[in-house]
Parts: sequence; C-alpha cells; structure tokens
Amino acid sequence: MAKTKSVWVCNECGAESGKWQGKCNVCGQWNTFQEQLITKTSKKDNTNSFFDNEKSTPQHINEITITEQPRINTANNEFDRVLGGGIVPGSLILIGGEPGIGKSTLILQTALRIQNQKILYVSGEESAQQIKMRADRIHKADNNCLILTETSIEKILTQIKNSNPDFLIIDSIQTLSSESIESLPGSVSQIRECTSLLLRVAKENNLPIILIGHINKDGNLAGPKVLEHIVDVVLQFEGDRNHLYRILRAIKNRFGSTSEIGIFEMLQNGLREVNNPSEMLLTQHKENLSGITISAAMEGIRPFLIEVQALVSTAAYGTPQRSSTGFDLRRLNMLLAVLEKRAGFKLAVKDVFLNIAGGIKVNDPSIDLAVAAAILSSNTDIAVNNGICMAGEIGLSGEIRSVTRIEQRISEASKLGFEKIVIPKSSRNISSLKYDIEIFQASKLEEAFRYMFS
Ligand code: TYD
Ligand code: MG
Repeated sequence: MAKTKSVWVCNECGAESGKWQGKCNVCGQWNTFQEQLITKTSKKDNTNSFFDNEKSTPQHINEITITEQPRINTANNEFDRVLGGGIVPGSLILIGGEPGIGKSTLILQTALRIQNQKILYVSGEESAQQIKMRADRIHKADNNCLILTETSIEKILTQIKNSNPDFLIIDSIQTLSSESIESLPGSVSQIRECTSLLLRVAKENNLPIILIGHINKDGNLAGPKVLEHIVDVVLQFEGDRNHLYRILRAIKNRFGSTSEIGIFEMLQNGLREVNNPSEMLLTQHKENLSGITISAAMEGIRPFLIEVQALVSTAAYGTPQRSSTGFDLRRLNMLLAVLEKRAGFKLAVKDVFLNIAGGIKVNDPSIDLAVAAAILSSNTDIAVNNGICMAGEIGLSGEIRSVTRIEQRISEASKLGFEKIVIPKSSRNISSLKYDIEIFQASKLEEAFRYMFS
C-alpha cells in the first residue's frame, strides 16, 4: 500500500520540515518552503528493475584494480579543454545557463560530432522534428544519434536499457519526473530523485551522462545546491544574449581543473569554437581614440587581450551616474576614489560609463590599470597610443600590485604585435630581451600614466 504524506521542502537547499516555515533554518533564505506530497512505496511496490544485480561488499584499497579507460573525445576542442581533456566514462556532467544562451545547441552539436559512439538524446523540451531541424542546420554528417522525447524517468530508464547507448544526454533535468513522487517536474524532490537515479545508471553502467539544467534569476542552477553535490562536473554556459560570444566555464570538476574556459561564437549554423580569443575581442582601430585602452587579461589560465572603453562627461544632473558593463560597479567606484584621492583628478562631478568590449564579463583584477587609464584618457581627451597594452591590479593607495602569470600576458601581447606593455614593478625576473616588446615596470599610478600619456 502506498502511503501519502506531506512535507515542506526548501527550494534553495532542499531542507525538509514537517510544517511551513517563513525562513529556512538551514540556509537562512526567506519564503522558500513549498509543500510536497510524498508517496511512500513499500519495498515490494518498487518495481524499478533497472538495478537488479546489486551486491556491494567492502574492498581493500590495494585490491581495487583500475581499468584505464580512455576519455571520450568530443571533437570539440573548447569543450574538451573545459572538461580537462574529454569526457570521462561514467561521469555525470551538469551544464547550466540562462534560457536561450545555447545549451541545447552546444550539446546537440557535440553529440552529432562524436564518432563511433551510440548516443541517446532525451529531450523533454522540444519535439523530435524541432531537434531534427536544428540538427540539419548545425551539422550535416550522419552519425549514430538516437532522439527520444520523454519526461518520465522510469520510461527513460527502460529505453536506456533497451537501446544500451554509449552516451546519454538529458535536456533538461527540470522537465523530468518520477512516478514515485507526487510533485511537479522541476521541484526539488523531483530533481533530486531523477538525478540520483541517473547517477546510479552512470556509475553502474559506466555511462557518461550530460544533464542540461536551467538557472534561476540569481544565476544559480535552479533547484537546490544538492544537485551540484551529486554530479561530478558542473559547467556554466554564459554570455550576453545581445552579443555573439559565449563562455563555457567549469565550476566544479572531479576530473580536471576549474580554471580552463572555452570560448564560442554563436553563428547561423551553430556555435563556432574561438581558438584565438584576443583577435576577436579587440576592435581594430587605425587611429588612436581617447577613452580606449587594452588590457592583457587572463580568464582562468588563458591569456587574452581585451579592450576597455570609458566615457567621462560632465554630469547633467545633480548626482553623477556611474555605469559599467562587464566590470564590477563597486570596483569601478573604488578605482574612481583612488584616482580622485591619490592622483588628484576631480571625477566626483562627472558621469562615468565603462564598457568591456565583446559583452564579456572579466573577473581578473589585473584589468584595473586599463580601466583607470581609460577613464583618465577620456577625462583629459588624450588618447593612449594603441600600441600599448597593460596589466596591473590597483591598490587603495594608488600602488600597482603584481598580477599572476605575467610572462604569459607579455608573450600574448607580443604575439599580437603590441609594441609596449606596462606591468607592475614587483614582477621579478622579467627580461625584455626574450620578447619582441618594450616592457615598462611601474609601481605607482603616476609613473604608469606619465609613461602612457607622454
Ligand atoms: P538554444 O540552444 O535553444 O538555447 P538553450 O537550450 O540554452 O535555451 O539556443 C537558443 C538561441 O540560439 C536561439 O535564440 C537562436 C540561437 N541560434 C543561433 O543563433 N544559431 C543556431 O544555429 C542555433 C541552433 C541557434
Ligand atoms: Mg534548450
């Protein structure tokens, strides 16, 4: 006999409670509790025959043999790079991103390119015809890809058993539901149940699975954090929908580093891998323009040169506006305060607009110097020569602090034909002889500015 009981579950962290609560005791969020009906099925009712031959006994660590299995090469360099060199058999990979950013496109494109593997693509969001139309648009070659439109996890498990794929894709985890739980698809308990069933399938059959997940308005993966704990790899696909560039980032990776990123460009016929990001992110200017500087930035462990644009104008209204795209607004305010206090520029009555070209969000603090120089350049209407690029973090007293991987930045700048680079003085052992570029080391903002604007 199935017994039904009702519990309240926190949408954020998945904590359960017997009664409604305004504030979750576990994660401290307000208004996150939702009622859920749970049908307790007795052991006999549980007819999920997928996991029959269960036997687990403790093993001595020395007796465990490792069968070295090659990673699956996805034939997509950027995707492989983020995963740490291909897909590990038996791994559960979650990829999240805003609606319309291109998750389905990326995964379908990857699935169609994998050779000599049987792929099962399960979609709960689109019809088979829609997927076929998209597939025709992005890839012409035929391969061994099966499409299933289904949302019941029990039926999907049966189909996995029948078709025995080498690789499984679920688009998306929020559309799946299990019959044993009486709540709507996308609710915490459904997501948790479906993901843990899929995890068992992945581990017991050594089947790699990619789950596509939605993110909520705060940018976190929808559903509780528990989802991120269950899976092996969490990838985030991000970008500005009005721009073409997309960044694939690893947030968690049990089989590789999380500092690699993949860069793509959304085109008419799918996503194109961007192998040389610097060339794409720099607008090619012939003449020198004020308010524009180039920073030698790093995203993860990849150096790339990025253009910073600033516009400083007299405030039309009482309170000056500060607006920034792709750069933290609080950090911009901090830099303006430093420029005002330490370098003596009167910016308090000015509107300041800042933009990182290409719709890319940069977290690397080394672009501080380029931001400060762009603001100053726009304020004085004196251009920085476009053969100069720079990297340096700015401290509160106006000092230029050292940045990581300086050699990689210098060589990227030199490779792209820049003549001069401004770097922090504290970077040691830099010999300009090795590079085809003039290196200027500055310890204070004034020094750097004097060099750039002279
Ligand atoms: P999609 O993969 O459906 O996004 P998600 O699964 O993350 O919700 O992609 C949505 C957008 O991508 C869509 O608005 C149109 C654009 N797009 C292209 O520009 N070119 C293409 O070849 C494809 C397939 C999509
Ligand atoms: Mg989609």
